[in-house]
Amino acid sequence: MLHKLVPPFGTSASRGATLALALAAAGIGVAACADQPTVPITRTEDTSGLALDVEFQLQLSLMGVDGRIEERFAEMLGRDIDQDLAETGRLLFFDPILSMTQDNSCSGCHGPNVSFNDAKSISVGVGNNGVVGPNRTGPFNLRRAPTIINAAFYPNLMWDGRFASESLDGFDNSAGFRLPQPEGNSLSDLDHLLMAQAFTPVADRIEMTGFDFKGDNDQIRAEITRRVDEVDEYRTRFATSFPEVAAGAPLDYEHIARALAEFEFTLIRADAPLDQYARGDTAAMSPAEKRGGLLFFRDPAACFECHITLGYANQMFSDFESHAIGVPQIAPVNTNAIYDGPGQDEDFGRERSTGDSGDRYKFRSTPLRNVAYQPAFMHNGAFVCLDNAIRHHLEMERSLAEFTGEHLEFGLRAKRGPDRPMIQGAHEISRIPRGTLNISDFADLLAFVEVSLADPEAHPDALRHLIPSTVPSGLPVHDFQYGSTAPECR
Ligand code: HEC
Ligand code: HEC
Repeated sequence: MLHKLVPPFGTSASRGATLALALAAAGIGVAACADQPTVPITRTEDTSGLALDVEFQLQLSLMGVDGRIEERFAEMLGRDIDQDLAETGRLLFFDPILSMTQDNSCSGCHGPNVSFNDAKSISVGVGNNGVVGPNRTGPFNLRRAPTIINAAFYPNLMWDGRFASESLDGFDNSAGFRLPQPEGNSLSDLDHLLMAQAFTPVADRIEMTGFDFKGDNDQIRAEITRRVDEVDEYRTRFATSFPEVAAGAPLDYEHIARALAEFEFTLIRADAPLDQYARGDTAAMSPAEKRGGLLFFRDPAACFECHITLGYANQMFSDFESHAIGVPQIAPVNTNAIYDGPGQDEDFGRERSTGDSGDRYKFRSTPLRNVAYQPAFMHNGAFVCLDNAIRHHLEMERSLAEFTGEHLEFGLRAKRGPDRPMIQGAHEISRIPRGTLNISDFADLLAFVEVSLADPEAHPDALRHLIPSTVPSGLPVHDFQYGSTAPECR
């Protein structure tokens, strides 16, 4: 029997009901009898019951998925989160005072309305119109901002991993933190990689600084710090967390960086259905998701070759290595970034930071938790439908040949970089055909990535309360567009 007449207790029953309601609202017919599976399952073996659970539980234990990474956070940090400092960090995160141009903030590119991802396929930094959502306008930068949710668990940061903890552990600075120049390893005495990272966006010309202020990164940070220090509310807030500030010392950029990182520490959202399942709630995932999970972790799909969970990956679904998987090259018409290649319509990926042509077109395997809440996928948001992003992995050359970019906004559709050099350069691991999955296999795999890895607490609606109505500088908070029009996928 495939379906129980009485729905099982627990979350999957209620989620099933919600899905049916959502489908009905969307005008998609569901069989009147809830007992009737909509997609016929043609397999002969029992892939829905006890045997499936036994198999999947074994697979998860082999992969080190125990569903407890979120509860280990404080232990990894070695202390509790300083809630006062995190609150200061939250206000700074949303406050355009951190941009020299006063028109952008961290939240301009990592918006709560898109689960702290980018609302655009490629970031728009300085010169924007104050909107965070599809209607954001201004010159495009180079890449899409990945989410900062769960970034505290990452051993390296950025699309090419160029901000790295040498110990392969963001919480451990004993081997130093390696950043690109000019910061280099100078920020290695900070306690966490996110604190080091927080030094850089404010000094990035196209993201937050603009082109008018003359000075190096240290001078930019000094000026920003001076401005923050002039705001009484920030001084009072920092004084509660740092005795030296309470004693009258001027603020240092390090105080700001620590506050921003502390806020990011509060953005751990790693309690997805998969985690509940791994902790023993077998009803937390549907049979389709479990079958999809088995496909993910095994041949022929073998997603786990790069999206790993064991060891330093902290169950984040990335090996934090860079691979060339031939994502379509899109280039904006209006940009303030410098693109690569003869047509200036390419992104050479990791080669940009290593200078090694062997790293051309390589990008870090993206951590996959909460990926369902993203408006766009890959380093340049070339795909706006999750199924296409996954399908690309299975058949890279076909995906490139069929890619039209029709889902992209016009300013990103007009110019497209060449495919040929990317196909030639694709790393052998990405050339292994992932196997052509049949339609129901693909649906299962998609269900796993989309549903099982999504923590409901990372949904944009669950993050809305983090948007402050005003910020201490008095500058305007951005206009976060909620409920944007999602493209039709599948
Ligand atoms: C103009 C848009 C923009 C602004 C503003 C911005 N970011 Fe980002 N952020 C990005 C982009 C784009 C990347 C990826 C860059 C790359 O890999 O080349 C990124 C990467 C990150 C990452 C690494 C995430 C990962 O998966 O490795 C963190 C953390 C982060 N930003 C935090 C911040 C903080 C904190 C601020 C404010 C001080 C900020 N960002 C401001 C666009 C922005
Ligand atoms: C060869 C290593 C490799 C394998 C195997 C692999 N991936 Fe990826 N994956 C990547 C890389 C690298 C990226 C980022 C590429 C980019 O942005 O240019 C990525 C990106 C993604 C994304 C987009 C995430 C985002 O936030 O943009 C999804 C979804 C994804 N992979 C799912 C899968 C699935 C499902 C499988 C198995 C069918 C799989 N991957 C197999 C390397 C791999």
